[in-house]
Amino acid sequence: MSKPKLFSTHVLYDQPRRLLAEHFDVEYWTENARPSRDEVLKRVVGKDALVCLLTEKVDAGLLDAAGPDLRIVANVAVGFDNIDVPACTARKIAASNTPGVLDETTADFTWTLLTAVARRLVEADRLARSGGWLQWNFDLLCGTDIWGKTLGIIGLGRIGRAVARRALGFRMRVIYNSTRRAPVEIERELNAEYVTQDQLLQQADFVSLHVPLNQQTRGLIGPAEFAKMKRTAFLINTTRGPVVQEAALVEALDQGKIAGAALDVFEREPLISDGLRRDNVVLAPHLGSASVETRTKMAMIAAENAVALFTGRPMPSILNPEVLK
Ligand code: DGY
Repeated sequence: MSKPKLFSTHVLYDQPRRLLAEHFDVEYWTENARPSRDEVLKRVVGKDALVCLLTEKVDAGLLDAAGPDLRIVANVAVGFDNIDVPACTARKIAASNTPGVLDETTADFTWTLLTAVARRLVEADRLARSGGWLQWNFDLLCGTDIWGKTLGIIGLGRIGRAVARRALGFRMRVIYNSTRRAPVEIERELNAEYVTQDQLLQQADFVSLHVPLNQQTRGLIGPAEFAKMKRTAFLINTTRGPVVQEAALVEALDQGKIAGAALDVFEREPLISDGLRRDNVVLAPHLGSASVETRTKMAMIAAENAVALFTGRPMPSILNPEVLK
């Protein structure tokens, strides 16, 4: 019997490739550059399953181009703002993401950015590397302390909690705002205090964003929010670029309304506003979950989701379980 056909927009790793090969006739996008929309539209035709990355916009047009056989869109990311889930549901196509496996890795990277911007690591590396460091000096590249400061976390989900847990070692005060208040045991464990978003913006020395991108959070941090932040505060963003109004961020930096920013995500990736290319901003090309271990686990969950659907077993994660009924 012939196997169902699957298109994967990335080659992934050996382990998920082996699993997929057992169950599917797989076509991979093997080039290093991401496939264009046209290329994806072409290759998805007649497929039973699609494994994709956050760079692919999976909308009604793509689902229709695939045709009636498509049964699953397995995103290799926890964020799924690239997928029109209602459009999948309307066509009885399962949509899945990869929750749970990237929280610690993304929290590590949030702290990598936070410490880098506070202690001016990128500027320091540039100076040391350039040969421009001629002598030790008392006030050379002095940054700002992290320990003992206030960390404000917007969105205390799995990643937000992992970020908060790391703050304990820095003996910081942790305040948070979230759509839902965390259970008391979690607040106690993390030593985290629930505050309003305004209080958080007014009090935090570091504001770290961990909300998913959706209609409620698009543009969440704009001119009014920057106006509330301390002039000495830093914004850290490892979630999705459009949660921050990038033009407002550039303006806030221009006008010294905040001290700096550390950004892993941008409004129009991979474009980065020129106004963000400054010494007090640390920039990274969307690397939050980018460790080999974690990316392997993410790819495995996507592969397991596809295999589970076709073998009638429970999917490790599904965004629209109603399609299975
Ligand atoms: C995600 O999973 O949503 C990250 O942004 C990429 O790993």
